[in-house]
Amino acid sequence: MSATSEGQSSRLSRRQLLAAGAAATAGAAVGIDTEPAAAAQRSYPRLRVASLKGLRVNRPVSFMYPLKDQPNALVDMGHKVPGGVGPKRSIVAFSTLCQHMGCPVVYSRSLREFVCPCHQSRYDAERLSSIVQGVATRALPRVLLQVRNGAVYAVGVDGLIYGYRTNLAPGRKVTS
Ligand code: FES
Repeated sequence: MSATSEGQSSRLSRRQLLAAGAAATAGAAVGIDTEPAAAAQRSYPRLRVASLKGLRVNRPVSFMYPLKDQPNALVDMGHKVPGGVGPKRSIVAFSTLCQHMGCPVVYSRSLREFVCPCHQSRYDAERLSSIVQGVATRALPRVLLQVRNGAVYAVGVDGLIYGYRTNLAPGRKVTS
């Protein structure tokens, strides 16, 4: 085989590989983002986290979800925020495991942010925990909430909790 034909063969192989990779990625994305995700959503436990009457604005409530050793915080921001539930659409909840290396983040009432004590990443609780500063590159996973009969329930998680390949294993699910 000549150098030219070898080069063409090589380029073709790379193109084929890229195409195959793109197809695999697309397939994986479809698989991950649709059916398994929907199935997983149905598998989440339903946990009563707090009563509406018991909540105080800007005072976090800690709880474990969906597994017994996965910490989260629920906060009533006091006004409408993206993803908020409740009468004012003001109540949100997030995993408190930092997306950088898993340190437990702490809610700052003065900043209204989750702050990581390890490398100072900061997440905005009023904007879906988007990153304000620091080395973390992903927002904190959001706990999906529902309000029923005067209480707030956790019913799912949007985003992968740090340190887990799936949010529901390994470990034991919480029970309400
Ligand atoms: S573990 Fe939170 S910023 Fe590094």
